[in-house]
Amino acid sequence: MKRFAIVLAAGQGKRMKSKLYKVLHPVCGKPMVGHVLDTVKKVECERSIVVVGHGAEAVKSYLGTSAEYVLQEQQLGTGHAVKQAGQLLGAEEGTTIVICGDTPLVREETLNALIDLHTRKGAAATILTASMDNPKGYGRIIRAENGSVVHIVEQKDCSPEEDAVQEINTGTYCFDNAKLFEALEKVTNSNAQQEYYLTDVIGILVQQGEIVEGYQTEDYSESIGVNDRLALSEAEAFMRERIVRKHMLGGVTMIDPDSTYIGADVTIGADTVIYPNCYISGATVIGEDCIIGPSTEIEDSHIHDGAKVKHSVLSKAEVGSEATVGPFAYLRPGAKLGQHVKVGDFVEIKNASLGDGSKVSHLSYIGDAKVGKNVNIGCGAITVNYDGYNKSITEIEDDAFVGSNVNLIAPVKVGKGAYVVAGSTITQTVPENDLAIARNRQENKPGYAEKIRARAAAKKKRKEQE
Ligand code: UD1
Ligand code: CA
Repeated sequence: MKRFAIVLAAGQGKRMKSKLYKVLHPVCGKPMVGHVLDTVKKVECERSIVVVGHGAEAVKSYLGTSAEYVLQEQQLGTGHAVKQAGQLLGAEEGTTIVICGDTPLVREETLNALIDLHTRKGAAATILTASMDNPKGYGRIIRAENGSVVHIVEQKDCSPEEDAVQEINTGTYCFDNAKLFEALEKVTNSNAQQEYYLTDVIGILVQQGEIVEGYQTEDYSESIGVNDRLALSEAEAFMRERIVRKHMLGGVTMIDPDSTYIGADVTIGADTVIYPNCYISGATVIGEDCIIGPSTEIEDSHIHDGAKVKHSVLSKAEVGSEATVGPFAYLRPGAKLGQHVKVGDFVEIKNASLGDGSKVSHLSYIGDAKVGKNVNIGCGAITVNYDGYNKSITEIEDDAFVGSNVNLIAPVKVGKGAYVVAGSTITQTVPENDLAIARNRQENKPGYAEKIRARAAAKKKRKEQE
């Protein structure tokens, strides 16, 4: 049977009190609607429709071509939202999953179990439910004495008895597609919120004598619908735990999972060890046998096998295998380190490549540069890449040696095997294998220190007498 999905993402999310549309709020670095759509994709739907409204352009530009879209111009309720998808799905036959864009923790396994029960029972609708100690705010599942589902009552429409029911509607359902759109025609807005509730479809189908089932998930986190920032932080905590668990079961050691923050799309190879206080996000890829942290932030970067990165910040950088970074290094976008490179303390690298085996061990800034293999850059040496208007390139070829505290005024080139003497300010090309020295010659004045001291002491005395 064909399978379809409708993701509801048109609401503004007033309770978030935010300029950002609700479903775009990130959980572990990925917008909620992204989590939902990714999960839906895993259960292989023929078509996935996202209902957009508030922030339609922003949601569409984030999700791109991974879904089809329908616009709900006015947010008249979840039933009204699903109805908009009728333009695309109304004539289809099959099973339709409806899921809210604000329930990021629903799992693929659970969707499969829901679909499975729905199919086995030949149901018109199957609701994903959960049992909650504090069900406030959620729709309640009202069952008959024999346990069959009768209808769903929203919090605001609950009688005191209904209010006490702990089985809630997670907002995820399976429907027979044709029956869903037929029942939606009968939904009215005569309720506390004057909205067209999708949940009313359940009562309508039961009234028609259709089979309606409930599938209860045991995993509390899946039931979290993020309506405000409290629920957002709760969702974040559950998602974070889920992500670190996945990595640990995949062979990654986490010294302290509670202080380890890993984005939803990060990949990490086996036998890598993550020390406490790391924040690893975006499309970061970390290889095998790496040592990361403590206290390291890595965003959208690629760390190859066996590299070590400690107490450092990396953004859009690449670190070669067996390279070492830190402590206290800052790799900015376009930093590209080869194999066995060493970048030490208080070194900043931006838009610069360093060939295999090169070393920048302390207190350097290397920006807009192309550094060859086995180059040594001494303590405090920097590229002077910016004149206030233009960025210029520094080139340092293989096996060159740049002494401590050298200023390389770009554009400039240091040839292969050349030697730049400490303290030099280099403004011209240093040819291959040459030695460059660009600093004042030293002059010593014998005994002059004594004279200086005597003069200073006399001055102090005069002042005291005034
Ligand atoms: C809804 C359910 C409730 C359930 C809860 C689970 C209804 C009437 N209630 O309540 O039973 O327990 O989810 O989290 O369905 N949306 C639209 N267009 C609209 C209104 C909403 O696209 O006109 C979208 C929202 O963006 C959101 C989702 O539908 O992603 C759910 O809407 P929301 O207002 O959060 O519903 P709840 O009050 O949480
Ligand atoms: Ca909600």
